[in-house]
Amino acid sequence: MNLYINQLQKKPAFREQVYAGDIFLDTHLRSAHELCALARHSITEAFDGETDHLSLHKKMPVETFVEHVTRLKRKFTNGPQAKALIRDYILEIGADPNDYIFDVPRVRVVPNYDYLHAGVSYAYKPHRDTWYGSVDCQLNTWMPIYSIEPGQTMMINPAYFTRPVQNSSPAGA
Ligand SMILES: [Fe+2]
Repeated sequence: MNLYINQLQKKPAFREQVYAGDIFLDTHLRSAHELCALARHSITEAFDGETDHLSLHKKMPVETFVEHVTRLKRKFTNGPQAKALIRDYILEIGADPNDYIFDVPRVRVVPNYDYLHAGVSYAYKPHRDTWYGSVDCQLNTWMPIYSIEPGQTMMINPAYFTRPVQNSSPAGA
């Protein structure tokens, strides 16, 4: 596996490399920064003007937190702005939006484990996305809304990229 840093706009054939297991980390894309700003704005809006996003779990009972997160996810995922920014992102990396079908964007909310780790904050166990019905040609894009530590994010296991992994999905499904 190769990790390319800020190379996406210089490699028009990036898809073949992603399908071979490579990862691109781009930190300067304008559309990505705008998407991050939109996510932060959406959090403030969903939490009635609260701007200290990293302390929200300390300010309310978990039931209230879940209500606000549900509102946040619905608005961010279904609103027109995030979708427009995804189109901008495809253009910015030098690709043609007509060549892609994109899924709606999702925002992941991960408070302290003891506060909440189910429902709106459920973290999926290690998996391949195809186990959940994703197509083989899917390209995934992630970005942090705030700086994170390794223990707060997901793992990517390149060593398994070309190895079969047992799972409980029915054969042929
Ligand atoms: Fe996944």
